[in-house]
Amino acid sequence: MRRTFSDDFLWGASTAAHQVEGNNLNSDWWLIEQGPYGLERSGDADDSYHRYAEDMGLLADSGLNSYRFSIEWARIEPSPGEFSLAELAHYRRMIDTAKQLGLTPVVTLHHFTHPAWFEQQGAWLGDGAVNAFARYVAFAAQILHDVDWVCTINEPNMVAVMHGMRLRAAHGEQLDTSALAAPDESIGQVLIEAHRRAVEILHARTSAKVGMTISSQAQTAAPGAEAKLVEVRYVWEDMYLEGCRGDDFVGIQAYSTQTVDESGLVPHQPSPDDTLVGLPYRPDALGIAIRHAHEFLDGPPILVTENGIATHDDDRRIAYTRAALEHLHDAIEDGVDVRGYLHWSALDNFEWGRWEPTFGLVAVDRETFERHPKPSLGWLGSIARAKALDSK
Ligand code: BGC
Repeated sequence: MRRTFSDDFLWGASTAAHQVEGNNLNSDWWLIEQGPYGLERSGDADDSYHRYAEDMGLLADSGLNSYRFSIEWARIEPSPGEFSLAELAHYRRMIDTAKQLGLTPVVTLHHFTHPAWFEQQGAWLGDGAVNAFARYVAFAAQILHDVDWVCTINEPNMVAVMHGMRLRAAHGEQLDTSALAAPDESIGQVLIEAHRRAVEILHARTSAKVGMTISSQAQTAAPGAEAKLVEVRYVWEDMYLEGCRGDDFVGIQAYSTQTVDESGLVPHQPSPDDTLVGLPYRPDALGIAIRHAHEFLDGPPILVTENGIATHDDDRRIAYTRAALEHLHDAIEDGVDVRGYLHWSALDNFEWGRWEPTFGLVAVDRETFERHPKPSLGWLGSIARAKALDSK
């Protein structure tokens, strides 16, 4: 069977600055890595700060036509109100390089990290947080005039989880680290406000399609728990989708699923099938996620800004991605407006405190920084070239 995709469908891969660049010294995460949490360090990461042209070249050579990356606020504004024109020029060179290689750049302005000074001011709950973000966005807009796709904030719902957990730990609370706490609603509200301000600024200064990317848990109801699902999903996801209403597109990111029963989220029982980040192997998550966003927001354009699997077995990566794309195509056939698929991740990278979970289409030797494309890169690139997925 042959599943075909539209000619202008974006096929690409995603990264985030802190996870691949290396030496993001002025960021909150650099400090967190040195804190009491027992995390591995990002260090030089993949040195993509210097090697981005090589990385983008690998994607373009494979047949992909898009690259999603983030620009780093902590580099662009190392002290409050003090902006670096040289760092801005660096990110403009990345945009130019992508375009020269035939890759449509999808630029994220905030992917989990912010400047250390912003953290010291209370981060998203500090006075003037939204104004500070807006000032950065206005400065960054100078290099985005001819960028078609801009994501303001990556996964505000996950930022509200992580920032919330950190705040509670700082207040001496013993955290249960076996599961993520629900997103902190007050942090979430500020992030949505920051997104709305960024949309206004970017619409006034660029011609980009502007959206936010949402982490979908692809939650489903156990029999009889439909009402509870609506309640739980609002806190985790729908509040943030609500914040995207009216946007040019919504970025959807999905990896796995979660069941909700009458008492709430059902804890996942570990299984040998789990991925390297302990998630159930559920390639159907993507279809559930995009169908829900489509229904909830009444049909906005959707860009899959992340989907992938942490595994050492590249055949498994291909099998997962193939199944995810089949679900994606089924949703398109059913009328969901999906504009592209950006795989997480282009490179094996720093998985927020751990190096072991490898999501990349390309492996990286962390001493020589040599890149080793995996078969999955060529496989995904060939689908992009054919604009079609063939299955038995
Ligand atoms: C994030 C990425 C992360 C990925 C895999 C997403 O939540 O945006 O930064 O590496 O999931 O865990």
